[in-house]
Amino acid sequence: MKKIIIAIDGFSSTGKSTVAKQLAKALGYVYIDTGAMYRAVTLFAMNHNLVGQGYLREKELEEKLSEIQIHFKLNPTTDVADVYLNGENVERKVRTLEVSQYVSPIATVSAVRRKLVEQQQKMGEEKGIVMDGRDIGTVVFPKAELKLFMTASAEKRARRRHDELLERGEHVSYEDVLENVVTRDKIDVSREDSPLVKAESAIEIDNSNLTLQEQFDKILSLSKKSI
Ligand code: C5P
Repeated sequence: MKKIIIAIDGFSSTGKSTVAKQLAKALGYVYIDTGAMYRAVTLFAMNHNLVGQGYLREKELEEKLSEIQIHFKLNPTTDVADVYLNGENVERKVRTLEVSQYVSPIATVSAVRRKLVEQQQKMGEEKGIVMDGRDIGTVVFPKAELKLFMTASAEKRARRRHDELLERGEHVSYEDVLENVVTRDKIDVSREDSPLVKAESAIEIDNSNLTLQEQFDKILSLSKKSI
């Protein structure tokens, strides 16, 4: 069977990764969460005091980019790939609200984007990949055979992200999560380099009122039509 690239973009917490994982499993494809890569760079920047409340040391971060190695490795327990930063499994550390607060400013830095996009394009050379993010259909794989653009109301998205954080034991308020989701979207759509925008040929899926199963069925059927 022909192998294709499936690009899934959209706003924060629209459930891109949930459906991308399901889809990759059903098709026997590789799943890559590019948000985890931006989050890993953010964690590195936080650990080196290059980003914090009210500051981002862009030039110093650029100089240190060659020290950042990111890779994914399958976690046999969850059957999904975990993200590693310089050999350390940082899957849990990159999901905190603190990392979420700094990741969008970090993702505006062009040198960071260049480095990660290059790695993402290499990962897709063999096709058979489902990749989610903000610029996959527009910048990383403009020729992807199937492009999806996911949306949902900000309140629905914040509610989902809040539930996820609580489940992981991070006790944050719903209001803080909502504010983070809205702020990140604002930065993502307005940045100069690779802003979040629906690719011309992308199919928009508003999942505000879809169950996970309905959403998955819809996307699986679109994928099968493209293969
Ligand atoms: O997908 P996730 O919410 O984990 O992504 C975290 C942040 O990383 C986004 O808010 C965005 O600022 C950035 N990002 C990006 N380009 C991508 C993936 C994520 O700018 N391809």
